[in-house]
Amino acid sequence: MKFFIDTADLEAIAEIKDMGMCDGVTTNPSLMAKAGRRDTDVLLREICDLVQGPVSGEVVATEADEMIAEGERLAAISDHLVVKIPTTYEGLKAIAALSRQDIRVNATLVFSPAQALLVAKAGAAYCSPFVGRLDDIGHDGMELIEQVVTIYGEYGLETEVLVASVRHPNHVIEGAMMGADVATIPPKVIKQLVQHPLTDKGLAAFLADWDRLQEG
Ligand code: G3P
Repeated sequence: MKFFIDTADLEAIAEIKDMGMCDGVTTNPSLMAKAGRRDTDVLLREICDLVQGPVSGEVVATEADEMIAEGERLAAISDHLVVKIPTTYEGLKAIAALSRQDIRVNATLVFSPAQALLVAKAGAAYCSPFVGRLDDIGHDGMELIEQVVTIYGEYGLETEVLVASVRHPNHVIEGAMMGADVATIPPKVIKQLVQHPLTDKGLAAFLADWDRLQEG
């Protein structure tokens, strides 16, 4: 499973990349706002310079023609910039048009198997079901991942399933067991993934025994 880092925070990306855990990056307007950078194209270029894998940057236009123009502008930032397009009726038109130009698209804000099927038929490189936001309203986000993996497998669709809106380690592990291609993970969850209380307890015991040995 590939790990993308779901942040626009350059320092966090650099730290996780150095650990070998960053195959790509996803951003969105909310993450850009959190990073406090208005020069979003410059920031996307800086992320692309740092990470050689796919880096998603999202359009804010809502009409197809404007989404396409904005997508073309974003794609010119780097050859590994992936254009993120919201999964609306207008978005589908933009996904198809950009994909025909060989611009890779990440279809975002996917909440149903129907949306996932449509974005794959439109040629999206990635489909991003938002599992955490479905959980938030009492649905089962991971059930959607299972449905999308099944549908894509059934028809040999090449669109990669990207688990998004990840809130905790189980979203990543369940996604991996279901065969999802990618999880985009907030830095906080990367830290949670490595933690285990028995590791901490075992290490404390080893260090205490080592100290006793030194005291003779
Ligand atoms: O990749 C999409 C992600 O950023 C959305 O996450 O936590 O805002 O639902 P969240």
